[in-house]
Amino acid sequence: MTSSCTIQFFVFSITLIFSVSYLSASHAPNSEPHPYKLPIKKDPVTNVFYTSVGIGNPRHNIDVAIDLTGESLWYDCAINYNTLSYIPVSCDSHSCPTKSTIPCVTCHGPFKPGCTNNTCGTYNYNPLAQVTFPGDLAQDFIFISQIQVSGIRSGCTNAHKFTSNLVGGLPKGSKGMLGLARSELAVPTQLALLKKLPLKFSLCLPSSNNIGFTNLLIGPEGHEQSQDVSKYIQTTPLVVNHFDTGPLFEEEYFIDVKSIKIDGNVVNLKPSLLSIDRKGNGGTKISTITRFAELQTFVYKPFVRGFLKKAADRRLKRVASVAPFEACFDSRSIGNSFTGFVVPTIDLVLQGGVQWTIHGANSMVMVKKNVACLAFVDGGTMATMSFFKASIVLGAHQLEENLLAFDVASSKLSFSSSLLLHNVTCSHL
Ligand SMILES: *[C@@H]1O[C@H](CO)[C@@H](O)[C@H](O)[C@H]1NC(C)=O
Ligand SMILES: *[C@@H]1O[C@H](CO)[C@@H](O)[C@H](O)[C@H]1NC(C)=O
Repeated sequence: MTSSCTIQFFVFSITLIFSVSYLSASHAPNSEPHPYKLPIKKDPVTNVFYTSVGIGNPRHNIDVAIDLTGESLWYDCAINYNTLSYIPVSCDSHSCPTKSTIPCVTCHGPFKPGCTNNTCGTYNYNPLAQVTFPGDLAQDFIFISQIQVSGIRSGCTNAHKFTSNLVGGLPKGSKGMLGLARSELAVPTQLALLKKLPLKFSLCLPSSNNIGFTNLLIGPEGHEQSQDVSKYIQTTPLVVNHFDTGPLFEEEYFIDVKSIKIDGNVVNLKPSLLSIDRKGNGGTKISTITRFAELQTFVYKPFVRGFLKKAADRRLKRVASVAPFEACFDSRSIGNSFTGFVVPTIDLVLQGGVQWTIHGANSMVMVKKNVACLAFVDGGTMATMSFFKASIVLGAHQLEENLLAFDVASSKLSFSSSLLLHNVTCSHL
């Protein structure tokens, strides 16, 4: 026990010494607002947003899907994966979190990343395939753009041991996920602690890769400080759902939607249906993995009714529904503007009186030739769900070309609504 602690301490000291080394500082121009910057790309096939993170020595560039609700960075380390700088986190180390980890992992194969003894186990969750895989928690070099950071823990899974598909639903070539939740193992949390930075990150999802790169920024200098957008930014508290909502879901980002307006008319809903109840159900969650917003049935029904009424007032021509959407229109009857189709405007009225406005580019989707639908789906009811359910899940489609800055330390979200309204896109930031 004593000797293992000593070794542990020794390894930890070395890690700390290395952690200040920058790989190639010359690649990072001085004008750069902040070093921790990851490109955001949209996969045209799955519409999943992903980034690329360098891991290990030699460096492996691994594409990982961006998951606001994910707890950690995890990746498939089964095939053609080797790294000399890999340090498994031992079960008795402080770096092995007590929460959300599985008991000590052992392995009978030859030593390699993902096959070590007395190693802190992790749950690596892929919400797109709805599978959870056990993995090993390890420290290795992480490269965020050109900057090398050591001491970041991530989950490495030897996927070939399992029959179901660890990377199901991810963009082709992606081998893991980057979780950004309010959790101990999320990369922003670890970076903030390691570099003594306030825990903040900001992201802006591009509607297409053709109009340029956008970035995920981790650290104090977020996009919201950019001259272009600071005047459009509004702020609302991030709500912490204190209730246990499942083994992996308790650290997600919620905002407090008080009411919903469609073309200025308040949708007839009891406010209590939107707030988080005593069991942790309800509330409005933000997700980069859910593609289209999901509303629980009791919110969805009046919401769609309200939208259809205003659409009729605007003389939009309704056509047959195309599953999973209900409110569909002949796109030739809808005008176009900077902010997409000209349709009834949806306002989410938030705590503090601010409003998140959703225009056509974020509320509508083309489903086939000449048919555009309201891109919100019926998320079912509590009765049909055996686990926790939010009243509203805002999906990636609703977030495109909207700037979101998560000030986790102060529990605040700054948001821009659609940048398109100001003739700006995420790639301008
Ligand atoms: C783990 O320990 C077992 C039993 O001592 C041993 O057979 C095995 O080779 C070890 N695995 C590794 C990866 O060192
Ligand atoms: C919007 O921006 C583009 C270039 O970014 C410019 O060419 C165009 O004139 C702008 N339109 C308006 C209405 O500001």
